[in-house]
Amino acid sequence: MNRIIEQIALLKENHRRPLCAYIYDMEHLSEHVSRRVRTLPPSCRLFYAIKANSEEEILRALLPVVEGFEVASLGEVKKVRAVSRDIPIIFGGPGKTDEEIEGAMDNRVSLIHAESADEVRRIAWIAAQRGKVMPILLRVNLQGPLPDATLAMAGRPTQFGIDESQIPDAIRLAQSLDSVKLEGFHFHSLSNNLDAEKHVRLVQYYCERTAAWIEEFGLEDISYLNAGGGIGVNYAEPEAQFDWDLLVERLGPALKEKCPPNVTVLFECGRYVAASCGYYAAEVLDIKQNHGKNYVILRGGTHHFRLPVSWQMSHPFRVVPVERWDYPFPRRELNDAEITVVGQLCTPKDVLAKDVPVSGVRVGDVILFLLAGAYGWAISHHDFLSHPHPDHIYL
Ligand SMILES: Cc1ncc(COP(=O)(O)O)c(C=O)c1O
Repeated sequence: MNRIIEQIALLKENHRRPLCAYIYDMEHLSEHVSRRVRTLPPSCRLFYAIKANSEEEILRALLPVVEGFEVASLGEVKKVRAVSRDIPIIFGGPGKTDEEIEGAMDNRVSLIHAESADEVRRIAWIAAQRGKVMPILLRVNLQGPLPDATLAMAGRPTQFGIDESQIPDAIRLAQSLDSVKLEGFHFHSLSNNLDAEKHVRLVQYYCERTAAWIEEFGLEDISYLNAGGGIGVNYAEPEAQFDWDLLVERLGPALKEKCPPNVTVLFECGRYVAASCGYYAAEVLDIKQNHGKNYVILRGGTHHFRLPVSWQMSHPFRVVPVERWDYPFPRRELNDAEITVVGQLCTPKDVLAKDVPVSGVRVGDVILFLLAGAYGWAISHHDFLSHPHPDHIYL
């Protein structure tokens, strides 16, 4: 954090234009992820789901650390291949086109997650035309109930995966097709789970389901169980983050007990990998009171950082004081006040934090949003209103 604040001071010394930037602590990214990889049980591998943040610098920093990358489109396949010819790629997501399946094969994707029986047929048909056998995992939409989390992709009706009740038919189908090799099962069921014990129980449950299908269908040669992503980031209480040490402490024995032999457990985390290295910094352009509320207006907004509005939450931030003041009139300021932090867009939905108490904020200070490295810039509608993009600074 201190490095980020120093960087803001430096930027403000050198530039008159209002500051607006994503700033990444690349050292933190490498250390954070290396430690996670090092402490995983031996039968586990960590992939990075690049949808969380597919900036080239982030991918390059993670290349030597993670086992591979999880992608959800041909565009993402190409982003990965632009930084590495050979790092393993696993490719998932509903509604794959033939072009994407062909592109995945051309780009030596290691595994495709099949999201429906017809997708299994199409993958097999395309592989057969190339004289190839494509390794696949069947993505399962479990019956549930599953633990609570901010987003649930399975355990309830969604467009994701193959309904658990249809998995036996999908296994028989894959077994009947020479040009696909069923390598296991994929269970990305939720996003932003903050409870490590629940996460262990979830992975254990995936192991039990996998073991049952192995036994029923004689799948002794499958290699993978993909437990998906979904490890959470606590935006409401940034000091109380997901208990990784507890996860790995419990996971080892849980896998020994429940994981079928010779099955490698894959994790494909996005948020948990990238969130904590990224900051969105935006300068206060104006302060005003409307209808009894204090509005702090930033150079920037939800077109750069859509996460808080998409989750209807106040994103955690701190005020970074900036002493520079170039105008001949006094600075407007608020002290011991509740503020609503908004952007420059023409919609009342352009809110990043609502009614948050601060000890002080002035026009010209910088609001620094924490935990902004995942699903920040990547999910935002950058060109709405055609404001300039933020700078992207990789420390
Ligand atoms: C298939 C799949 N895997 C992994 C992820 C990454 O999830 P998270 O960022 O919650 O770890 C996602 C996110 O939507 C996903 O759809």
